[in-house]
Amino acid sequence: MAPQLVYIKTFGCQMNEHDSENILNLLASLDYQPTPDPKKADLILINTCSVREKSEQKVYSLLGRLKRHKKNGRILLGVGGCVAQQEGDKLLEKAPYVDLVFGTSNIHRLPELIRTARHAGKAQVSTEFHGDSPCYPLPRLPKLFQVKAYVTIMEGCDNFCSFCVVPFVRGREKSRPSAEILKKVRGLVTGGVKEVTLLGQNVNSYGANVAGELSFSGLLKELNKIDGLERIRFTTSHPKDLSEELINCFEDQPKLCPHIHLPLQSGSDRILKMMNRGYTREDYLLKIKRLRAACPEVAITTDFIVGFPGETEKDFQATLDMATEIEYDEFFSFKYSDRPKTQASQYPDKLQEEEKARRLSILQEKQKSITLKKNRTLVGKTLAVLVEGESKKNPLHMSGRSGTHKVVNFEGPLGLQGKIILVKILTVHPHSLFGCLS
Ligand code: SAH
Ligand code: SF4
Ligand code: F3S
Repeated sequence: MAPQLVYIKTFGCQMNEHDSENILNLLASLDYQPTPDPKKADLILINTCSVREKSEQKVYSLLGRLKRHKKNGRILLGVGGCVAQQEGDKLLEKAPYVDLVFGTSNIHRLPELIRTARHAGKAQVSTEFHGDSPCYPLPRLPKLFQVKAYVTIMEGCDNFCSFCVVPFVRGREKSRPSAEILKKVRGLVTGGVKEVTLLGQNVNSYGANVAGELSFSGLLKELNKIDGLERIRFTTSHPKDLSEELINCFEDQPKLCPHIHLPLQSGSDRILKMMNRGYTREDYLLKIKRLRAACPEVAITTDFIVGFPGETEKDFQATLDMATEIEYDEFFSFKYSDRPKTQASQYPDKLQEEEKARRLSILQEKQKSITLKKNRTLVGKTLAVLVEGESKKNPLHMSGRSGTHKVVNFEGPLGLQGKIILVKILTVHPHSLFGCLS
């Protein structure tokens, strides 16, 4: 029998991207092959994000477009991820043509849900949370030339930042057993993987709720011992839980890449308090100072939210001041968006969309010049680059990332894929560097 075809569209963070990889691996065991074309698919899945209202709207507009493929009665349409978790049954009221709604804790149930939906001809909804995190199978065969892999080390979040929907759609914090993580990474390395990125909403508190478990730094130290593994990254870390021990890992664990994503969100102490972030700007600045002392080359990136309820011009100025003082390598910035169940959605003094957009563009302009200035200091320097493949923009160029997570394009042969090579930087752009083999 010809294999069935599955099309999957993924929105949101790396956690979702990784969940989609796991979904495809799970479905491969049911003989489903991935296809990039929804028109050819027997099963269409959308893995959704709910972090901002816009992310959620994208899901409904895509569903509207995919609906017409359902005219061919064989096709099943499924929605997973954070919007599915948030909406549950209600999603079927908004989109009654959907056949499957599966939450963030129920990916492992997908084969059974597909079978029941096909045979019973009735929509299936599964959004309950489980005590233990599901244990996905290791990818059976790492993709050809797969040099990087994601590894989820914990799920959920207990921080309840007042703006954030994640604790509601990903449940409480659960760390996966370190023995399982180490086994998984060893398996990936045997399959040719050179770099792993450890994923969690707040990796710094890894193991904190489990008696006898390694701390996050302890886990990094064990991973650092794995032969054949060349690079370790992680995301995301919460500033309040960034320990001295972890900062020291940037100094003494050679495989840990010199890059940290440390979301500040706002530079104003008043707003940080309302956000329930658990640190002040002074606390944060001290951690940056310590990080740079331990590892002078460390690249620091961040997330900002502008236009939080009640944010004054002065508060916003404090955010700009922090961006100027810290000089991030790169950042992501967002207009505040009300999310269901969150504390901040009940706060007064919401800002107008136009004002949020104005602040966003001022902050982004400022950062663009800082990023360019920082990148310019790299001209003439030689960077170690893990080669990932052809450049997306120019197939004559190869592309990879430096330890500091910057995209580096260069002219070179395809055979370099998967290798760490030295590239001398010749020119720089805001989002990438260009160089030649050194
Ligand atoms: N666990 C990560 C954050 C995941 S969400 C952490 O704590 O660092 C990714 C980013 O989306 C957040 O850092 C924040 O900047 C942004 N974000 C989350 N909720 C938002 C909201 N309601 N409106 C605008 N941006 C939001
Ligand atoms: Fe959301 Fe805060 Fe948890 Fe990050 S730490 S996922 S921003 S609640
Ligand atoms: Fe979005 Fe869910 Fe990730 S809300 S940011 S896909 S955890």
